[in-house]
Amino acid sequence: MAAQATEWIDDLYSSRAKLAGPGMVGINPRRVAEVIAFGGGYPDPSSFPIQDILDSARIALERDGEWALQYAPGSGTPELVTELLRKLQRDQGISAAPENVLITNGGSQALGLIWEAFVNPGDAIISEAPFFLGAVGRCESSGADVREVPLDDEGIVISALEHELERLAGEGKRAKFLYLVPNFQNPTGITYTEERRRQIIEIAQAHQLPIVEDDAYHDLRYEGERVPTFYGLDDSGLVMYTGTFSKIISAGMRLGWVIANPSIIAHLSGLKTDFSTNTFTSHIVAEFAGSGTLQEHIGHLKEVYRERRDVMLQALETEMPDGTTWTRPTGGFFIWVTLPEGVSGATVAAEAQQRGVSVGLGTNFYTGAGGERNIRLSYSFNDEDEIHKGIAIIAGVVREQVEA
Ligand SMILES: Cc1ncc(COP(=O)(O)O)c(C=O)c1O
Repeated sequence: MAAQATEWIDDLYSSRAKLAGPGMVGINPRRVAEVIAFGGGYPDPSSFPIQDILDSARIALERDGEWALQYAPGSGTPELVTELLRKLQRDQGISAAPENVLITNGGSQALGLIWEAFVNPGDAIISEAPFFLGAVGRCESSGADVREVPLDDEGIVISALEHELERLAGEGKRAKFLYLVPNFQNPTGITYTEERRRQIIEIAQAHQLPIVEDDAYHDLRYEGERVPTFYGLDDSGLVMYTGTFSKIISAGMRLGWVIANPSIIAHLSGLKTDFSTNTFTSHIVAEFAGSGTLQEHIGHLKEVYRERRDVMLQALETEMPDGTTWTRPTGGFFIWVTLPEGVSGATVAAEAQQRGVSVGLGTNFYTGAGGERNIRLSYSFNDEDEIHKGIAIIAGVVREQVEA
């Protein structure tokens, strides 16, 4: 009998495919709702603007249906590029031109293309730590030599960044880029101060170190003033600024972007094998943004998420045993919890899951050691009652572990 193809096909995969593992096959996001879901970064399902999206879709189809359903330019539909540039100028303080833009299949594809364009197996990159799970995945599948630099509550620690750069130079290596989520960081919720951003830009310019600024949560600020972006602060073209419509309109639209200097955009675009990105949803989002509905909707989301954040912080204060600490985010979706001495995040996560609450496992946000006493909590998906209930359950588990 012939050997099963899977036996000999295993030898044929590229080194990249071998490193990548199985990806999201078999994972059904709908199952997230079977528990109180503090584990993922899922937007609030009840806040999706379904009627406005229907209206925008109808208008886009009636006005320009032949092109809304057609292939589109590789860098994105002109209508969406125009609206995105307007939005970035107004909300992010970013001045850019169409040649700086690449529309992508979510922020995830933007990051995937950047990793693909810059990282060969063994190449060094520097990342804040802990860091976004999707970027951890890109590091693993690219075989990157990841140098993790810790965060404090103002951003990546400068002395540690400098130390890492010196160490790399001593090894004769040069980092391909520095990866950061400067606003309401995933997973810790912290926001880089302006002073820290300026220090990092100065170091990056001195070392010719590109910066990947992943600003997925930029618009979801619940208090305080906007801090200038790295992209806006830099005048040397070393920043690749990535973002997404997932958290402010709909994750299912699968639309994100990279803003960067045109030669970087050309290299990323050359690696993009889908020819054009979600033309139909691009037309819908262009209409949604152009009509002013997006701005109104962001205002509404900020109220919803601010309230949920406050409820979760208050519940933690009331329920958690002494020795537990956590961050207080000024925006975004996430709170990073440090458990009391001797309590394992993995045990708490497993036990909470048994009792119907999912949490993010701290160790998943590092490529090496770290996060053993941490869990990440997201307050975006569940309503206030569920948040109360979920935190009471987790606190019960932590108390049992402290007493064990
Ligand atoms: C920090 C960060 N970057 C990028 C993304 C990418 O999201 P998407 O691919 O849905 O645009 C996410 C989503 O959770 C995120 O948290």
